[in-house]
Amino acid sequence: MGRFGAGVSAFLLVACTGGTALAAGNAERGGTIAGRWCASCHLVGPGQTSASADVPTFAAVAARSKGELGWLEGFLADPHPAMPDMSLTRQEIRDLAAYIGSLD
Ligand code: HEC
Repeated sequence: MGRFGAGVSAFLLVACTGGTALAAGNAERGGTIAGRWCASCHLVGPGQTSASADVPTFAAVAARSKGELGWLEGFLADPHPAMPDMSLTRQEIRDLAAYIGSLD
């Protein structure tokens, strides 16, 4: 647990300072990915009118995460069993987290 916590902190630090190895999340690109991969189940943005009723909307996810995007990136790296394994790249995950974060 201790080692894991340290790893997460280091990761968040890199995320917050926009480390150069991996570009900072791009909300616009994340929105495009969301429309392509997530909109069949989730309500991903204001322009969408229908989605699965029992799946949380991205606006709800954004309200719940309150700028804490670390858990979101972790969740997307190892998706919930109810979701297909989309094998997102770390960059795609970061873009999606930036997009969802921008909805709040
Ligand atoms: C096949 C349908 C489906 C697709 C496609 C899908 N999801 Fe999900 N997602 C779900 C379901 C169902 C849940 C709720 C799981 C639960 O809480 O039991 C969920 C939960 C989530 C959660 C957690 C919400 C929370 O509050 O815990 C996030 C974040 C999420 N999805 C993001 C995404 C992203 C990003 C994509 C696209 C890359 C995506 N999902 C694609 C069905 C889907």
